[in-house]
Amino acid sequence: MRILSGIQPSGRLHLGNYFGMMEPAIRLQDEGEAYYFIADYHSLTSIHDPSELRYNVRDVAIDFLACGLDPQKAVFFRQSDVPEVTELTWILSCLTPMGLLERCHSYKDKIAQGISPSHGLFAYPVLMAADILIYNSDLVPVGKDQKQHIEVTRDIAQKFNDRYGEGEALLTIPEPRIREDSAAVPGLDGRKMSKSYDNTIALFEDEKALKKKVMRITTDSTPVEDPKNPDDSYIVMLYKLVATPNEVEEMEIAFRRGGQGYGHFKKLLLEKLLEYFAPMRAKRAELEQNNAYVEDVLQNGAEQARAVAQKTLLRVRKAVGL
Ligand code: ADP
Ligand code: TRP
Repeated sequence: MRILSGIQPSGRLHLGNYFGMMEPAIRLQDEGEAYYFIADYHSLTSIHDPSELRYNVRDVAIDFLACGLDPQKAVFFRQSDVPEVTELTWILSCLTPMGLLERCHSYKDKIAQGISPSHGLFAYPVLMAADILIYNSDLVPVGKDQKQHIEVTRDIAQKFNDRYGEGEALLTIPEPRIREDSAAVPGLDGRKMSKSYDNTIALFEDEKALKKKVMRITTDSTPVEDPKNPDDSYIVMLYKLVATPNEVEEMEIAFRRGGQGYGHFKKLLLEKLLEYFAPMRAKRAELEQNNAYVEDVLQNGAEQARAVAQKTLLRVRKAVGL
């Protein structure tokens, strides 16, 4: 089974990215042939500063390796090191109905966030489809917000097979894997954690900044002595991601009992966050000092990915008459 996912290097990775995408993807590297890449072509839709892009790519690479992506198990590479994917994008563009792209939420959402409406931004799902299809992916683990893009990919692949396959499935139809339990990690203000809402907790926030952020988590104004409702508390929601079921239960009981303020629960959350990410933090510090290793991993990954991509593209070119 071929598993594939990508992440845009568009800023520091946060807890939403980690629990929504990285952690499940890293776990999946034991279940099949995993291909994970840094979607730098996609990031050109929003990042126009070359040094920022380069910095982010390296940062994301280090974060992934620190969090347990194992280059012995998974093929890890930069999207742009396999330029074949842009050729496939063009070929797929020519059979993608405008209406399919016009229905995509993410284009409208991104414009609403202030990203300039370029052709690249509009055509973005076709590049994503090419990413998925060029590696013959069976399974694509992503967060909820990417579900529609996988549906678009399936549509495009089906259309391609119908038009050019002569009864053969030239392109593999992928299945999404949406992690529902943490599909929406809340941010400090309770909205979905997202860099566009400025409500994130970065994965490798320094300790002081982390403390400040945790203390900023929105709560209601129930007085210290009163019972509190754990079910709609963002503190509890985040705690659930890093604490054991027993620890979560204890916190829920303490919420309902009353007598302790939100500040206390925030401290418990802070401790757990630090404990949970401590080993990854140490690994990250090590990798920071080892640029050559990180670059080596990406180059190696690109070589393997490219071999697969070239085969698919050859098949596709032949099928369409190029
Ligand atoms: P952002 O919203 O900060 O711009 P991205 O859109 O770049 O994050 O998301 C990258 C990946 O992380 C996607 O697979 C997305 O589904 C996942 N993700 C982002 N934020 C969250 C969140 N709050 N909860 C769960 N998954 C998330
Ligand atoms: N669009 C995805 C995001 O913003 C990143 C991405 C690009 C991706 N190509 C992909 C994810 C292919 C999965 C498969 O999060």
